[in-house]
Amino acid sequence: MTAEVGVIGTGVMGSNLARNLARNLTGRTGARVAIYDRDVDRARALAAEHHEADFLVASSPADLASKLSGPRVAILMVNAGPATDSAISDLLQVFEPGDVIVDGGNSLFTDTIARGETAAKTGIEFVGVGISGGEVGALEGPSMMVGGTEFAWSRLRPILEPIAARAESTSARAEPGDGRSAQADPESCIAHVGTDGAGHFVKMIHNGIEYADMQLIAEAFALLRGRLGLTPPEIAEVFREWNRGDLESYLIEITAEVLDHTDAATGEPFVDIIADSAGAKGTGGWTVKTGLDLGVPVATIAEAVSARSLSAASVLRSSGTALDGPSTVTSEFEEARDSALDDAPTSAVVDRDTVIETVRQALFTGKILAYVQGFHEIAAGAQEHGWNTELGEVARIWRAGCIIRARFLDRITEAFDAEPNLSSLLAAPYFRDSLNSGQQALRDTVADAASSGVPIPALASALSYFDGIRTSRASAALVQGQRDFFGSHTYGRTDRPGTFHTLWSGDRSEVQL
Ligand code: 6PG
Repeated sequence: MTAEVGVIGTGVMGSNLARNLARNLTGRTGARVAIYDRDVDRARALAAEHHEADFLVASSPADLASKLSGPRVAILMVNAGPATDSAISDLLQVFEPGDVIVDGGNSLFTDTIARGETAAKTGIEFVGVGISGGEVGALEGPSMMVGGTEFAWSRLRPILEPIAARAESTSARAEPGDGRSAQADPESCIAHVGTDGAGHFVKMIHNGIEYADMQLIAEAFALLRGRLGLTPPEIAEVFREWNRGDLESYLIEITAEVLDHTDAATGEPFVDIIADSAGAKGTGGWTVKTGLDLGVPVATIAEAVSARSLSAASVLRSSGTALDGPSTVTSEFEEARDSALDDAPTSAVVDRDTVIETVRQALFTGKILAYVQGFHEIAAGAQEHGWNTELGEVARIWRAGCIIRARFLDRITEAFDAEPNLSSLLAAPYFRDSLNSGQQALRDTVADAASSGVPIPALASALSYFDGIRTSRASAALVQGQRDFFGSHTYGRTDRPGTFHTLWSGDRSEVQL
């Protein structure tokens, strides 16, 4: 008896993916899932506990190879880094040309490119697949971003497509014959987004956007709390309301759940008991570093990464307690809140509602700008690496299963359906109009936060990014002048083409180069 696919690594993600595969493949005649773990007992426990299929438990990489029907497909669900390298090296010893090794972890895309080159020398296919959706997604349907060759995709598609999340069709779905016929089932959240490391690259940007989205939501929370004095359960209710509109998303939904949770030990809101220090496994930072390498501005994502770093910088933060500034809850708003509670005339209540609506619009505007940055980076990365990544496809497969899934992704999908060669989300009427109608709220929110001392780095950077884009002449001309002064770095002119330099240490005449 052989298996159609093997899963290596039976931690929570690997187990759930293996179970998902088993549930979806066992309908096929003879289809089986093989599992292998260096800790063979852990793999055996998975097979004993879950009966979606008769898992074939392998006792070694060679045993796994013997249990897989050819050409073999094995999916690595092990930690990124050395564990991945070691598992690949094991498989390269026992697999044959034409077999496919999939890395389903959060590997750095440049590592994936290098690993693919090594594997290619043996004729074995190596494919990085970005898998999003956490533990539940792995079990019930993740969003998957597939790299590697067309041949490998043709092998993987029948195995992975049935286990992917499914999204509802948008109203503006493309018709057959519109040039997209080679794509996967339009409702299935999986796509081949380019060769070699493209799958992990797109997943990396997904995570960068995830960082920005989370930070923007956290800043909205800080504003509602700091400026209105709302309690966490009250803010949960506000988020639930927001989740019925444009902001509807998994992250808003779970934020409301977290805010409504009470710590059992203390009876305090759970969010007040968690240490104010956020961790990071690295993908957000990679998005920023890669953005820097590509020359793509991803300031809002960068601020989200920095905000986590600052949160964890305990020595720096303890020195900050001696620094002056406004209190984050103003007496004006505390009074407004108290008078609202006392059933006083409703001007205070109106203020509250106005502030909530302004923050909502600011959050939505900031979110659009974070996506604009992320999609810009995907386009630049695809160009740099020669990947045929369709941005509309990326939005399509992020509509369900992944952590950033949101109603908003339908709008992005529709924008690319309407104009497949869209240069930027900014050029799509829906996003341009949304930014134009939300920019004042973002501006008011940032101004209010600045004067009241609430740190909102992601919202503030989103506003600066927005103004930087729409300002035809900002401050770069002066920077270029400074560069030419101290380093003869030259400059262009607005009135004629060419490259110029001013003889700053001479008679200050200009030369054309
Ligand atoms: C996903 C998540 C997943 C993981 C992040 C967390 O798409 O399923 O992004 O990959 O939760 O890696 O990243 P941090 O630990 O860096 O927040």
